Amino acid sequence: MAIKLVTTAAELRAESARLLAEKRGSSQGLVPTMGALHTGHAALARTAVEQNDVVVASIFVNPLQFGEAADLERYPRTLDADMALLDAEGVDLVFAPSVDEVYPGGEPLVRVTSGPLGEKWEGASRPGHFDGALTVVAKLLHYGLPGGPAADGGAAAYRAYFGQKDAQQLALVKRMVADLSFPVDIVAVSTVRNAEGLALSSRNRFLSEEEREAALALSRALRLLESHALANEPLELDTAVALVESQPLVKLDYFDVVDPRTLEPLAENCKETPFRGEGLAIIAAQVGPVRLIDNVPLSS
Ligand code: PAF
Repeated sequence: MAIKLVTTAAELRAESARLLAEKRGSSQGLVPTMGALHTGHAALARTAVEQNDVVVASIFVNPLQFGEAADLERYPRTLDADMALLDAEGVDLVFAPSVDEVYPGGEPLVRVTSGPLGEKWEGASRPGHFDGALTVVAKLLHYGLPGGPAADGGAAAYRAYFGQKDAQQLALVKRMVADLSFPVDIVAVSTVRNAEGLALSSRNRFLSEEEREAALALSRALRLLESHALANEPLELDTAVALVESQPLVKLDYFDVVDPRTLEPLAENCKETPFRGEGLAIIAAQVGPVRLIDNVPLSS
């Protein structure tokens, strides 16, 4: 394996400086993950490798963003397989710190607050989740800064990669970076689906065959809205909601069409009038033991 594993921020910085100098590089990409990697993460890594000279992937299961201790405990840890997947994509470095390395003083007293944007949708069902996620993303964005200059002596470009599947997380990370002036470009990477349309997620492995089949209702309903939007027709959200609710194994939490930046519902634009402009259809449901989220960008 060409890929290298580091576990401390100091090692990461030193290795990043060494690689930038060795490759005469001018850019560094960071792919933050919690491990248990799948083809969706591979797409993030591939995009980062295409766009940067040096690529770091972080693997850290962040206790701050989990509600129940049991959920944190059962989150899959698969470091060897993760390293192999990242190595195959051409990632240079894996940063897999311990909880003590990231939170040396225990739970941080000062955290990033996600504000009203973090309290709706996923935030309403998982209070505190986005404050915990943004706090660790802020730290990871600092750890992942290029450790040295670009080959021409100037500052190396810095990009970080997030999946469109976690649309609310992506919107919040973009706002944090803009509102708090982080020196990084956030790059969104499209959702990867299996052949039947199910959006890939590390938690899909907990679905039974029957639940996996039922879960397809989410992407089918989103596709229905997408086709109406493309055809400039009324979205008929109610029909799509009914499609999901007809599955007894699927307990729908929310399903709406929102502004992609503010995540405010586009109430006027999605019911009976033909859809115009840009929107994001978002959905969340409990299927057996798994909370599933998915979304699809809409444009006409
Ligand atoms: O999307 C994830 O995997 C996590 O929320 C992230 C961004 C790595 C922060 O822990």
